[in-house]
Amino acid sequence: MDLKIALLAGDGIGPDVIEQAVKISNVIADKFNHIIEWKPALTGAAAIDAVGDPYPDETHQVCLAADAVLFGAIGHPRFDNDPSAKVRPEQGLLKMRKKLGLFANVRPTFTFPSLLDKSPLKKERIEGTDLIFLRELTGGIYFGERGRKHNGNTAFDTCTYSRIEIERLAIKGFELAMNRSKKLCCVDKANVLESSRLWRETVQELEKDYPEVEVSYEFVDAVAMRLVQWPNSYDVLITENLFGDILTDEASVISGSMGLMPSASIGTENALYEPIHGSFPQAVGLGIANPLATILSAAMMFEMSFGLNEEGAAIRRVVNESLLEGKVTEDLAKKGDKFYSTSEVGDYLVKLLKE
Ligand code: IPM
Ligand code: MN
Repeated sequence: MDLKIALLAGDGIGPDVIEQAVKISNVIADKFNHIIEWKPALTGAAAIDAVGDPYPDETHQVCLAADAVLFGAIGHPRFDNDPSAKVRPEQGLLKMRKKLGLFANVRPTFTFPSLLDKSPLKKERIEGTDLIFLRELTGGIYFGERGRKHNGNTAFDTCTYSRIEIERLAIKGFELAMNRSKKLCCVDKANVLESSRLWRETVQELEKDYPEVEVSYEFVDAVAMRLVQWPNSYDVLITENLFGDILTDEASVISGSMGLMPSASIGTENALYEPIHGSFPQAVGLGIANPLATILSAAMMFEMSFGLNEEGAAIRRVVNESLLEGKVTEDLAKKGDKFYSTSEVGDYLVKLLKE
């Protein structure tokens, strides 16, 4: 198969972890007789420096022309510490999501048997956790009207959702649930927010099309609590943009490190794959970034964009093996144990794949 993949390394540790994912993907391509054509393009602070726009049109065209997008991270402290900055790297990410129509963000949380003791939660609580958040990604408070009034002394951000936006996300949730354990949880704040009441109403209407799916409705504050009490009681969860942002960060540490969880964003154009973690600027140049979340994102890409399940499985297999053998970056090493650099972990996976 010929795979044309847009490669957006972005900022911070983005280029480091992307390099490893490319290495692994190229070995997979060799092994399974595919040809990957990588199409690099600029995003984030790097794009601001080069052309003054964190998601330039040229990059958008590269993404549209590709079959899938592999993305690293976005963000730079230079902008975080400057509240008056007019252009920010993060705006590039939001613009990219919107322009590529990536309305559903698929964020799994699963545990690795070899890492159960790395979790901040007790082993017996997290064992068997395997859940997926579907976070709405192109609507809500992230994209609503915002501004200042009263001479700048009052600020507002608004959360708006249309039935169509909710429906298309919820349908993805029902479809996913049908392929898993047929359990779907709609996370909202319907006791307070009108937009949440529309979410609930819309999901309730869809229930009749999926009679086999058992749907529960839970308030976001309760989910935040139960997620750390009984994460393994959840399967597929659907929620709006901001709730999803917060809950998926919370969920991502259940596995033991934020550097482990991959994600996919799907929608009207082609899909984008990226690690859940951010640009981790403190780690730039130190070779300590964990590449596994990005490598597992590449596995999701093979599976979801190309239906290449064996290829995805091969990546997951070597990732598991490397964890079992302790060939891990510092974030996963046991106290006093040897750990490996970002590229050493990548090289080790390559070696396992070639065996
Ligand atoms: C994420 C990030 C982004 C978000 C930021 C960088 C804009 O936190 O992908 O979760 O809030 O969506
Ligand atoms: Mn986030």
